[in-house]
Amino acid sequence: RKRIRTHTLQQMKDRSEKWTMLTAYEQFTAGIFDEAGVEVLLVGDSASNNVFGNETSLPVTVDELIPLVRAVSRSAKHALVLADLPFGSYQGSPEQAFHTAVRFMKEAGAHAVKLEGGIAMAPQVKLLTDAGIPVCAHIGFTPQAEHNLGGYRVQGRGDGAARLIEEAQALEAAGAFAIVMEMVPAPAAKAVTEALRIPTVGIGAGVDCDAQVLVWTDMLGINTGRVPRFVKKYADLHSVMLGAAQEYVSDVKGGAFPAAEHSFES
Ligand code: KIV
Ligand code: NA
Repeated sequence: RKRIRTHTLQQMKDRSEKWTMLTAYEQFTAGIFDEAGVEVLLVGDSASNNVFGNETSLPVTVDELIPLVRAVSRSAKHALVLADLPFGSYQGSPEQAFHTAVRFMKEAGAHAVKLEGGIAMAPQVKLLTDAGIPVCAHIGFTPQAEHNLGGYRVQGRGDGAARLIEEAQALEAAGAFAIVMEMVPAPAAKAVTEALRIPTVGIGAGVDCDAQVLVWTDMLGINTGRVPRFVKKYADLHSVMLGAAQEYVSDVKGGAFPAAEHSFES
């Protein structure tokens, strides 16, 4: 298999072939998802609440995310590595976005970056794309703007659907190579997907998007907190790991570990 590139993802849409994206924050999960054939590994700013222990994605910084992106790009043999630009690192101006994106490419080996926002972010998307940095946009529910959006809510209901199409078309015109749509009614996501040449990536956006993305800690059940209803749980890693750790504790306390085979002779 060859390295996945933005062109590969476009060709897949053109052939009506679905593709996948998962988050990854370090080497082992990145390696596993890469081996499984996941086309895009997103080092999401969701690391904020999945690695760093924050409540939301807002506090995480570029300096915190860079080493995570570096670890993932070292492990990804085939997947395209997508670095999420965190809150406050690109909204200020296209130049700020450029500076941040360049850090992720040069210091961490990202192949592309992702940013949240619609028409207002088109100048950022254009400058980055013109400079040779592929950009994935993110519309619908955008977690970095939760205080503006009134919390975790479905976006693009009713009249919102037409607005969503306008936003998506502006981002495509600015040069985005793909658009993530989060928590959007399935019919609206379908309409956006049909209105665009570039691929759409759904998360809580129905089956008609060109690709899907999930946060790995949700879909593999290592996160036991409340997960959104759009998540399908493919494994229960929490139970597996909790059981193993409890067994270790009891083995040590009961003298069953280490056994002779784990020990060295004189
Ligand atoms: O940060 C993230 O994990 C994301 C996905 C939910 C698309 O932006
Ligand atoms: Na994100």
